[in-house]
Amino acid sequence: MNEKIQEMRADIVAAASGINDSKEMYQLRKQYLDAKTGMISALMKNMRELAPEERPAFGKIVNELKTWALDFFTEQDSRLKAAELAKKNAAEQIDVTMPAAPHLCGALHPNTLIANELIDIFAGMGFTIFEGPEIENDYYNFTALNTPKDHPARDMQDTFYVSPELLLRTQTSAGQIRVMENTKPPIKILSPGKVFRSDDDATHSPMFSQMEGLVVDKGITLCDLQGMLDVFAQNVFGKNVKTRLRPSYFPFTEPSVEVDVSCFECGGKGCRLCKDTGWIEVLGAGMVNRKVLENCGIDPDEYTGFAFGMGIERIAMLKYGIPNIKMLFESDVRVLSQFHE
Ligand code: PHE
Repeated sequence: MNEKIQEMRADIVAAASGINDSKEMYQLRKQYLDAKTGMISALMKNMRELAPEERPAFGKIVNELKTWALDFFTEQDSRLKAAELAKKNAAEQIDVTMPAAPHLCGALHPNTLIANELIDIFAGMGFTIFEGPEIENDYYNFTALNTPKDHPARDMQDTFYVSPELLLRTQTSAGQIRVMENTKPPIKILSPGKVFRSDDDATHSPMFSQMEGLVVDKGITLCDLQGMLDVFAQNVFGKNVKTRLRPSYFPFTEPSVEVDVSCFECGGKGCRLCKDTGWIEVLGAGMVNRKVLENCGIDPDEYTGFAFGMGIERIAMLKYGIPNIKMLFESDVRVLSQFHE
């Protein structure tokens, strides 16, 4: 009997030595130690076949075998589980010092950034937004804006015509008429939008964006225009920037001015950006021409107004130092990803 038990011990050790998996080891454990079907439990049942005087000694060695087997399998189980955990950890190891995969994040287009900035500034001064159509009537784009039939701007070389009467608007000023026709002063609107001109070089594009402003009320003067443009210039280009008005000509304003800002790059001393003049031209403006007010049914003896119009791409190019207007239309992510709010 003793031999049989020694043999069983050796069998267990031999079988266990070929096992590398804790689940398989558990099956082996069950094979010997399961209370009902285990081979060690079966030995106990054999006891009945022995003479009563042999039973205590036999019971003792079977119990010893059982205690040994329990210890043996517990040890095997923790050894295999530890090895399995180490293997799992090694497979899941991460290098926390590795740089993270870059997270691509969208950004607003510089044109949108500038347009939003301008809208914020002028909304803060009480302006509301009006958006006119991109395909315009000749009347709104030219005639009502005091631009006669023989004006050079109407030439096919400058304007994209859709039909003899319809064209792609060349200026957001067309919206001035639409607003004044339908609104009794006081009027204070800002009108952003795309405009189209047959023009194409490093600083001109056949399609670009403008921001128009129009104020009409009793007693409005050129001083009101300059005051508001100071707020605009200081917000967009810097606190120390000054504005200056230079005489100019637009058919729909009288007097008309070009508005310059003092060079924000050199502070007015003269540099490459301002071509050594200390000033940078940013927009056109003027007092709304009496004829234009009349065309819209507004009495020019009672009301006066000013209007201004600026190119959004031009402001973006100046503010961000963009050398070619085409960069704003090519959608090159390497360029666009450089601009953030
Ligand atoms: N519409 C003019 C342009 O496109 C700009 C402008 C707007 C000038 C309003 C005066 C008043 O050049």
